[in-house]
Amino acid sequence: MKKKIALLLVAAMTVSSLVACGGAAEEAPAAATEEAPAEEEAAPAEEEAPAEEAEAPAASGDVVTVGFAQVGHESDWRAANTKNYQDTFSAENGYELSFVDCDNDHAVQIETVRGFIEQELDYICIAPIQSAGWDTVLQEAQDAGIPVLIVDRAVDADPSLYTTALGCDMIAEGEAAGNWLAEYLNGEDANILVIEGSVGASATLGRTEGFNNIVAQNSNWTVLDSQSGDFTQAGGQEVMESFIKSYSDFNVVVCQNDNEAYGAMDAMDAAGITYGVDGDVIIISFDATHDGLQYTLDGKITCNVECNPLQAGFAEEVIKKLEAGEEVDAWTLVEDEAFVAAGIESAYAVTMTQEVLDGRAY
Ligand code: AHR
Repeated sequence: MKKKIALLLVAAMTVSSLVACGGAAEEAPAAATEEAPAEEEAAPAEEEAPAEEAEAPAASGDVVTVGFAQVGHESDWRAANTKNYQDTFSAENGYELSFVDCDNDHAVQIETVRGFIEQELDYICIAPIQSAGWDTVLQEAQDAGIPVLIVDRAVDADPSLYTTALGCDMIAEGEAAGNWLAEYLNGEDANILVIEGSVGASATLGRTEGFNNIVAQNSNWTVLDSQSGDFTQAGGQEVMESFIKSYSDFNVVVCQNDNEAYGAMDAMDAAGITYGVDGDVIIISFDATHDGLQYTLDGKITCNVECNPLQAGFAEEVIKKLEAGEEVDAWTLVEDEAFVAAGIESAYAVTMTQEVLDGRAY
């Protein structure tokens, strides 16, 4: 995209934000065009898969440069998400992708975005390690006329500072886990240990908030402890080992991603604690990656709430629309669902079968 058009985009975004009277989150933030605005309003993104209508950048002949400041490589989910971006924003699709693994370091991620601004890339995608601390660098990107897509996780910043956001609803994921547990326990007491994700990440904050919303509705549930396992297998194992030393009477372990669940299972195996549909402890996990769902099919993880990592197509759809001078939605929901161990029926989750597992793309 030519710089001049990018600057016009920022001008249009600024006007849009001013007109919104502070309600920028509900506004389509960008109307990027030198021509008349597109006549058709974009359909709500959550109702459809990434569209094919807009012309692919490759077809226009221009290589589109995209920077992706990725969280890191902490989990299987993250590996699937990275591969999805690299496959989508490939040279053969007309893109030059600058991919940076920020190794879960917020300061590195901020400097990575600054580097993308200095390189005058056409678009910047950020999967924010933490939700706080983004206003300054987002303002710098806006001043440079570079559209920013906040992907996967959310930021606390004013939505007028970025072009669009997309990802899963983390609060809804936490509520799905809680609703399933209430259904499964059917009035039984719950003594719950929570292995949270990375501190300050919206995935952690949202899943915690959503699950706690359901805890508050169940007076015989107690959250005994809640500690960060940093979304890693090693972190999950370490936190679970420490929980086992401190608590003897628990019947639910909530792991905020699959890798933490693998670590927690290792710790319980070593301590002789049984878990799963035939054991003493119910394990709830998030992500529903292939391996996580294998454990769910096997009845080791009783409920696994999906977080869909295949999000790059949604980001590409936004970029294609901006390239075509069309408006984009302020927010695109990437939908997900929950899964339960084979043999369990639930109003909140799909019962695992080999067929469901075989159909898994990640
Ligand atoms: O933001 C998505 C979360 O980040 C995934 O649940 C987790 O596996 C990843 O690290």
